[in-house]
Amino acid sequence: MKPVAVITGAANNIGLAIANQFSQHYQVVGLDRAFQAQEQSSSEGDGQIKKISCDITNPDEVASALKIARALGPIKALVNSAAITEARASILDTSIESWRKLMDINLTGAFIVMKTAIPYLQESKGVGLLITSRAGKVGYAGFDPNPAGTKAHYCASKAGVISLVKSLAIELAPFGVRINGLAPGSIEGTMIPKELWAGLSEKIPLKRLGLPEEIAQAASFLCSDASSYITGHILDVNGGTLMD
Ligand SMILES: NC(=O)c1ccc[n+]([C@@H]2O[C@H](COP(=O)([O-])OP(=O)(O)OC[C@H]3O[C@@H](n4cnc5c(N)ncnc54)[C@H](O)[C@@H]3O)[C@@H](O)[C@H]2O)c1
Repeated sequence: MKPVAVITGAANNIGLAIANQFSQHYQVVGLDRAFQAQEQSSSEGDGQIKKISCDITNPDEVASALKIARALGPIKALVNSAAITEARASILDTSIESWRKLMDINLTGAFIVMKTAIPYLQESKGVGLLITSRAGKVGYAGFDPNPAGTKAHYCASKAGVISLVKSLAIELAPFGVRINGLAPGSIEGTMIPKELWAGLSEKIPLKRLGLPEEIAQAASFLCSDASSYITGHILDVNGGTLMD
């Protein structure tokens, strides 16, 4: 019986690519508020993906989704990919409501998912992976994919996720649980408007946006035994746009 991997944000793009990639080695349970019915299954990738409609800002929904996942077997991997951004980006145009909404989903949601998952990961000596962003490391300084402004709320929320990764990694290391982060650069999908792709590609050393599947490959490494001595690390997957 394959172990269980839980992927949030699994309805679209990066989360979906991770779910498809992981279905080779895991029983994948995808959580997303975009999933309609309470529970469905699909076999779009290499294996079956169990879909659960779940808002990661709702602790009860997360708890019940993880309970369903655990009933399938030990949860060996948990990837939090669910997040939102906002097209309008200047800090002067950012309302307090918008700031709070991004923090609520991107940072508090990550906290809720991880806090709920910790007992399961301790039980399985599993691995947690939080998808953050290059924007969480350096904001959009010197590399502005959106001429309208800096998306300070998105960048700040993703910086918070990086700090959460490091805190979780220290706390959970004594239990044999590894926690890492993955910081994508500009990846194809709806988060970056298509009209910006060509201009962005010019600025990227590898001269193109990344693909969701390339994030999934890196996620697979960080959740596998091949990275057994790596914890508290934020892996850059950004085509060379940031080297630190
Ligand atoms: N696309 C990029 O260029 C890029 C770059 C850097 C980092 N990232 C990060 O990668 C991750 C995935 O990005 P993506 O391009 O797949 O985005 P996406 O918008 O295509 O997918 C995000 C998914 O999260 C889900 N979601 C949003 N809020 C939720 C909530 N409260 N509860 C449950 N599900 C929720 C959405 O329904 C959606 O399916 C995000 O954390 C994002 O910040 C993306």
